[in-house]
Amino acid sequence: MAARRDRADPTAPSRNSVVDDPADGWFPESAATTYDAPGGANAPEVVLPALQLLEALADGGPALELAVGTGRIPAPLACRGLSLSGIELSRAMAARIADKPGGERVAVTISDMTTARVAGEFSLVSLAFNTICNVLTQADEAEVFANAAAHLRPAGRLLIEVGVPDLRRLPPGQDAVPFALGIGPGGTSGSAGIESCDVVHQTFTSTHITVSPGGASRFRTTPSASAGRASST
Ligand SMILES: C[S@@+](CC[C@H](N)C(=O)[O-])C[C@H]1O[C@@H](n2cnc3c(N)ncnc32)[C@H](O)[C@@H]1O
Repeated sequence: MAARRDRADPTAPSRNSVVDDPADGWFPESAATTYDAPGGANAPEVVLPALQLLEALADGGPALELAVGTGRIPAPLACRGLSLSGIELSRAMAARIADKPGGERVAVTISDMTTARVAGEFSLVSLAFNTICNVLTQADEAEVFANAAAHLRPAGRLLIEVGVPDLRRLPPGQDAVPFALGIGPGGTSGSAGIESCDVVHQTFTSTHITVSPGGASRFRTTPSASAGRASST
C-alpha cells in the first residue's frame, strides 16, 4: 500500500472555531473534522485494495489496528465480516468510528499504542497511513513493535504502511518540499502541504495550510519521525 499525505480538502469549511483537547495529541477535533473528506486516502481506489490485502492477511481471524483513527479502514473491514479491534489516542478521531457503516462493530480502546493492551490474540496487527511515524523516538517505535507482537497469536502477521521521505527531492541547502497543492473553484481558496525535513535527526514536519472559500485560513503542523531510522534521536 502506498502511503499518501495529500488528503486536505481545499473547499472544506474553516476549522478556526473548533476547540481542541491537548489530550488528543496531533489529531484533535480540528484535524478529525475534515479527516474523512472525500478523496485522497479516503478515495475508494485507495481504500479498496487496502481492505482486500488486510482481509487476506487476517485469514479469517480477528484483527487489531493500532492508531485506528476515524475507522477509515476497520469499519469497512468489519462490514466484510472480520472481527476488528482498535487502539487510538485521540477521542476526537475515535468518535467518528461509530458513525460509519460497520463502525459500531469495531471495539475501540482509547489509549497509547506504545503500551495499551486489549483482550484477545490477533491473527493480524496493522498500522496504516504512516502512523508509525507519529511516535517520535526510536525507543517508542520499539515499544510499538513489542506491543504489536504481544497481541499476535502464533504465526500472526504485522503489517505496517509507511512512506519513505522524499529526501532526494531536496535541492542542496533546502530543507522543505511541497507534497500537495489543491486550488479551489475560482482560485481564491485552496490548500498546500509542505514537508520540512531534519535530515540529521531523521524527523520531519508536515505543514498544512488551508484557505476556505470565505477567506478563513488554517495553519496546522504535525511532527513525524522517519520509521526505521538508523540511530536514536
Ligand atoms: C495519520 S492518522 C491514521 C489513522 C488511521 N490509521 C488511518 O489509516 O486513517 C494517525 C493516527 O494515529 C493516532 N496516534 C498517534 N500517536 C498515537 C499513539 N501513541 N497511540 C495511539 N494512537 C496514536 C492519531 O491520533 C491519529 O488518529
